[in-house]
Amino acid sequence: MRSFVLLLALVVAFVASRPSERQNLHGAQVLRVVPRVDTQLHYLQGLHKLNQYDFWSEPKAIGHPVDIMATAFQLPSLRMVMDHLNIKYQVMIPNVAKLVREDYQARAKAPKAMDWTSYHDYDEITAWLDELATNNPGLCKVSDVGTSYEGRTMKVLTLGTGAADNPGIFIDGGIHAREWISPATVTYIINELVNGASSTYSDLLAGVNFHFMPVINPDGYAYTFSNERLWRKTRSPQGACTGVDPNRNWDFHWNEGGASNNPCADTYCGPNAFSEIEMQVVRDQINTLPNLVSYISFHSYSQLWMYPWGWTSDLPEDWQELDSLAQDAVNALTAVHGTSYEIGSSTNTIYLASGGSDDWAKGAGNVKFSYTVELRDTGAFGFLLPAGQIIPTGEETFQGVLVVGNFVLSYTP
Ligand code: ARG
Ligand code: ZN
Repeated sequence: MRSFVLLLALVVAFVASRPSERQNLHGAQVLRVVPRVDTQLHYLQGLHKLNQYDFWSEPKAIGHPVDIMATAFQLPSLRMVMDHLNIKYQVMIPNVAKLVREDYQARAKAPKAMDWTSYHDYDEITAWLDELATNNPGLCKVSDVGTSYEGRTMKVLTLGTGAADNPGIFIDGGIHAREWISPATVTYIINELVNGASSTYSDLLAGVNFHFMPVINPDGYAYTFSNERLWRKTRSPQGACTGVDPNRNWDFHWNEGGASNNPCADTYCGPNAFSEIEMQVVRDQINTLPNLVSYISFHSYSQLWMYPWGWTSDLPEDWQELDSLAQDAVNALTAVHGTSYEIGSSTNTIYLASGGSDDWAKGAGNVKFSYTVELRDTGAFGFLLPAGQIIPTGEETFQGVLVVGNFVLSYTP
């Protein structure tokens, strides 16, 4: 025990506090470590709380891999600590800077017009939503529903040809800024539905309304394009640091575990529930839209299709219905490219984390089939998934969403 305390002190002394802005990623790596015994797990959890490394995935249980990014400056001490504790590690991403550079270079060459061979910034995505509404009256409707902290207009795109109170599905993406595959997948789904609206999906769209918000953390997302590729939170000032974790900010068992009170932490829950204007905007949409049967929030990475709860390891009383729909969706997803997904409640699948949008949607927003989906991959690229994987990710995920759509079409409560 004494040596752990010593080591912790060493790490604190050795490693400069994680800079919240503009990290120097030259030489940064992502290491994967797998805790094998309790002491290792607890040590990793302590290290996570210290908030000095960028944990790409959190320590949950023995046998579950933990991905930790360390800068060139931090790597020697991280390796030393792991060796001392006898925790095996593997280099998952040997050259983070190279992947980030490739992302930005691909962006520089990418067309401004929407496509799915490159990633698009906030303005390109919203311009495209407006264009869809102009070109497809009677199918698409775009509404301006709020303004982000830095003044970006937030929009909802609704697809449907039937009654306004048809059963609805609300789909969002981009709550965590650096998870670029999420908005790309949401826009892919929109595009498929629009293209097949008068043929393949005419019955579906006559009976179900789809409401989309591809980027619900606009300022954070814009910041990953302009300044820091690996930014996660919102961009509101929080004392000495910036931003709140928007997926710890919802007012349902808010700050009851798995969230940080430290404004500099990546999982900061905020000074109070719904402190973040962007989450208020999304909440108001979920409250306003009639007859929502399903909510899906897209994140990356890990390939998980999860349902509530995230604030407790208990399951909702109707969990078997949520589980069975998730199984059907994942079967359809996997059938496309063989990509495997895990299914379960979010606490039991990844970790306990309170204040998530999925828990709020189910527990307070009355949306029964509420899901958080962690898209590709399982860590080879993590948040830095190459643009070449947008289309295959879109193809498979769309099949999963279609299963939910058709389920909602024929669902009678
Ligand atoms: N990776 C997501 C996050 O950390 C998972 C959220 C799952 N849902 C939950 N309510 N904890 O935000
Ligand atoms: Zn996320």
